[in-house]
Amino acid sequence: MSAFRSIEWLEEGVVRMIDQRRLPHETVYNDYTNYQTVAQAITDMVIRGAPAIGAAAAYGLALTTHHTAADGPYALQAELAQADAVLRKSRPTAVNLFWALDRMASLINRPDWVSIGDMQTAILAEAHAIAQEDVEINKAIGRNALQLIPDEATIIHHCNTGSLATVDYGTALGIIRMAHESGKQIMALLDETRPRLQGGRLSAYELKAQGVPFKVIVDSASGYYLRKGEVDLCVVGADRVVANGDTANKIGTYNLAVVAQANGVPFYVAAPTTTIDMALENGDEIDIEERSAQEVTHVGNWQITPDEVEVANPAFDVTPAEYITAIITEKGIVYPPFKENLAKIMSD
Ligand code: MRU
Repeated sequence: MSAFRSIEWLEEGVVRMIDQRRLPHETVYNDYTNYQTVAQAITDMVIRGAPAIGAAAAYGLALTTHHTAADGPYALQAELAQADAVLRKSRPTAVNLFWALDRMASLINRPDWVSIGDMQTAILAEAHAIAQEDVEINKAIGRNALQLIPDEATIIHHCNTGSLATVDYGTALGIIRMAHESGKQIMALLDETRPRLQGGRLSAYELKAQGVPFKVIVDSASGYYLRKGEVDLCVVGADRVVANGDTANKIGTYNLAVVAQANGVPFYVAAPTTTIDMALENGDEIDIEERSAQEVTHVGNWQITPDEVEVANPAFDVTPAEYITAIITEKGIVYPPFKENLAKIMSD
């Protein structure tokens, strides 16, 4: 398994994930053989990031199929429906989870299965396809973005959107990586991304290993650098982009977008089309996950607040489309008006 690949299928019917909660200090791989523990791994953020969660859910169904004791296709379909329902509840905001489960369901629910063996082969192949396509899509996003990045550029990035948040390679962080590999002089300013510190822990871990120059900054420092005129562009990932272009992403993204616009700095969202949800009209309809108080009261095992304080901990926010310069997808760069142009790209 490559150093940064988030998830892999092992031939004996095991799904292996790098435990992202332990990085960057320890590299630990966890093995899973059933959908219940895969769903728990998604909830607990062993694996996180919109595309990675989608691939994990698909492999959760492949595990169910591989280890089934069902005596025929109908019984297996019923077992998979149960697995689907549990996986669907593992996290609410990233649409890739539901996209991957819907794609798997349209295969699973075919009426013409003749044997369990056929189902095992086809369902595993579909999970592999979801994972492999994601890697190709990420690289296409990186290639499409090159035209937007000056030969010398300072780029602010929020959260982690690299290999670990996808299957391999990455979306917004993949753009930074590809720009560096193509010879551009890149300096990345990585928001540390409170409270789970995906930027300080995971993005920094990836860029360090890839030799991309970067500095970790606290989230509240981005305005300082934007106002000084030292930033050429901001690029972030997405958990859900809806039909009008409003975008849910890691908490703090909205603040960054507003300050970028106030300082005339382009703000780009990098998102595979698997993250675009044309069923929702605007960002107010997105279900925003509220996570545990302990993520805020503690850093690791260290409590930073007084005992028993009240905490609010939304994991994501919505950036209204008017703050987004463009959405970079594998099919091309989408500019405003997003409503028309997203509809066009999604129907191609
Ligand atoms: O809570 P997380 O770590 O799953 O949130 C991840 C993000 O917000 C990412 O920036 C987003 O999923 C894009 S992943 C390519």
